[in-house]
Amino acid sequence: MTTTFTSLEKLQQITPDQQLRALIDPARVPQHVAIIMDGNGRWAKQQGELRVVGHSNGVRSVRDTLVGATEIGVKYLTLYAFSTENWNRPQAEVDALMDLLVNTLMSELDSLHENGVRLNAIGDLDSLPDSCRNTLHEAIRQTAKNDRITLTLALSYSSRWELVRMVKRLAQAVKEGRLEVDAVNDQLVSEHLTTAGMPDPELLIRTSGEQRISNFLLWQIAYAELWFSPVLWPDFRREHLFQAVLDFQNRERRFGLTSEQLDPA
Ligand code: FPP
Repeated sequence: MTTTFTSLEKLQQITPDQQLRALIDPARVPQHVAIIMDGNGRWAKQQGELRVVGHSNGVRSVRDTLVGATEIGVKYLTLYAFSTENWNRPQAEVDALMDLLVNTLMSELDSLHENGVRLNAIGDLDSLPDSCRNTLHEAIRQTAKNDRITLTLALSYSSRWELVRMVKRLAQAVKEGRLEVDAVNDQLVSEHLTTAGMPDPELLIRTSGEQRISNFLLWQIAYAELWFSPVLWPDFRREHLFQAVLDFQNRERRFGLTSEQLDPA
């Protein structure tokens, strides 16, 4: 009787995110999760604050999601932090986002390092302000040997930019006689994208209720499962990631085959 009471007490102490985590099958965790972080502006508006307040509160969500992803064994987490199109936002917001990135990288670097996070970035990094690019490169250099999880920030990134860049590189190689046209295949294309060397995302999450891909990893998500959450990014926590992963584990991924082919029994 005493034992039962103690067990019940223990169960009640388990937080909702731990309960969800316990339901996840560690053998079928997606290796690569990509997230379109959306809803910062709307979150700020709901609080009667400026949009940038939404962005700065989004940093806590980045941290918590990264910790959660590491806990369950995700090996690659890729975040859409700034799109090519985001350059067209009001200059004050662009400046605030770049400052936030620099300050966050500087303040979080030790913690990233201690937790085995390898930082990576994809996108047109040359277009970033010098301070941002230099801080980013330094953080990437310092965490290069970590291997618990790779955190990739997509910055000044868009899929069409990346695809055009890839086509130009392959065309140049053909023109210079370094590549036969017939040698162009899926694998070669993948190797010429900014995500070369990473597995394709198996799960793509978008927050804030919008159901669009917005020029993100178009080639790489060919077979990804999509999960749209109504939660605004600054409210997103590891428990939401765990819900997405549980949903992912309940789906049948057929890759163009039939259910019977996948499970002949
Ligand atoms: C989209 O919300 C969010 C962004 C364009 C920026 C995301 C940036 C962060 C979360 C800041 C921290 C990031 C790192 C990696 C340190 P939105 O502004 O489009 O929101 P809305 O659709 O409600 O207007």
